[in-house]
Amino acid sequence: MNTAAGSNKQGVVPPASSAPSADGVWTNLRPVAALWATDAPMPEGELACVVVQGGAVQWVGPQAQVPAAFAALPRFDGQGAIATPGLVDCHTHLVYGGQRANEFAMRLAGATYEEVAKAGGGIVSSVRATREASEDELFALAAPRLQALLDEGVCAIEIKSGYGLALEHERKQLRVARRLGEAFGVTVRTTFLGAHALPPEYAGQPGGSQDYTDLVCNDMLPALAAEGLVDAVDVFCERIAFTLAETEQVFQAARKLGIPVKLHAEQLSDMGGSALAARYGALSCDHIEHLSADGIAAMKAAGTVAVLLPGAYYTLRDTHLPPIAALRAAGVPMAVSTDHNPGTSPALSLLLMVNMACTLFRLTVPEALAGITTHAARALGLQDTHGLIASGRPAHFVLWPVGEAAELAYWLGQKPACTIVRQGRIHGVMP
Ligand code: NIG
Ligand code: FE
Repeated sequence: MNTAAGSNKQGVVPPASSAPSADGVWTNLRPVAALWATDAPMPEGELACVVVQGGAVQWVGPQAQVPAAFAALPRFDGQGAIATPGLVDCHTHLVYGGQRANEFAMRLAGATYEEVAKAGGGIVSSVRATREASEDELFALAAPRLQALLDEGVCAIEIKSGYGLALEHERKQLRVARRLGEAFGVTVRTTFLGAHALPPEYAGQPGGSQDYTDLVCNDMLPALAAEGLVDAVDVFCERIAFTLAETEQVFQAARKLGIPVKLHAEQLSDMGGSALAARYGALSCDHIEHLSADGIAAMKAAGTVAVLLPGAYYTLRDTHLPPIAALRAAGVPMAVSTDHNPGTSPALSLLLMVNMACTLFRLTVPEALAGITTHAARALGLQDTHGLIASGRPAHFVLWPVGEAAELAYWLGQKPACTIVRQGRIHGVMP
């Protein structure tokens, strides 16, 4: 296999700009309905082509009808591959120190996520390890995680802070997220999750939670936003994290700065967080196992995306399913993501999440594929540039050497040798 992006051993990152240009006519592709917007109607069963010039998609449609203007461009033979938009992982906590295999063992012995958190483990244990790590160490730890996702076709990824819980450490995480995007040539959206957990120095203090929320709103968020490090703001609204009132305070601070919000909502209980987030025009509400009918209606009205995280559901051995049928009936767009984090979802494969979303949550294959492309892009506010193969957009797409699209959901843990066009450059297997 010709791996143009190279491996990332010892934290060595190849410059993304050294990958070959994808400019040319990409022929013999099989489109996936709903994930392509063609410039001419696609007759059933016909092969399609995508024209890339200047790193952007210029024309998409049946290959018999490619405009003559593109005749002189180089040709890349897709050999009948299924082609999807570049994948979008819309919810990750990719940058952190340490790991939490010990908690995995505690849970196997019967402890719940909440009991582990109360025993001093959980998010706070990752906070200790993240605070101890330098920016360069965090970069070196996150780089191979990112590479694993990229090798599977990811072209855009969200990376949250939330393991620093103090200005300098949240800054460090967000700076690493930005650096990863530049070094790997991938779209990174940063999300400030200062309100992820109460930092240890505030725990047990009377008024500690309110004091820390004030710090998040009045100091941390404005400072990090001024440094250009915050694309969105998130809160963990839960009985073991932040209340509804504290969540709203953070949303107000974000609104004042014109930054969109999203929410870790109704994961362990129905706090009413989704309806609140929808009132603030949230990009997404994520987890949502305990989402109510009112929450669904509010999300539909606001155009908020429901982000499903089967990796966390599986790891925590949750049994309370998110209300998929009701979300579907209401027409709320559903995205699927890894939620990569060291506690509840140490997952590094979006395709495995697709399999789980289908098997555990009963999504259809087309729903799950839209969940890691079109709807995931919308959950990040990237709907105009990612998640759809269409002209006028930067070239992000993936060629899959499979017999049918359902194979992308069907295999368990297989990583197909795909060809990835990311930011107009070719990675993975050369066509
Ligand atoms: O998305 N729910 C809260 N946050 C993470 C878990 C973080 C952790 O346990 O470290 C999540 O599942
Ligand atoms: Fe999360």
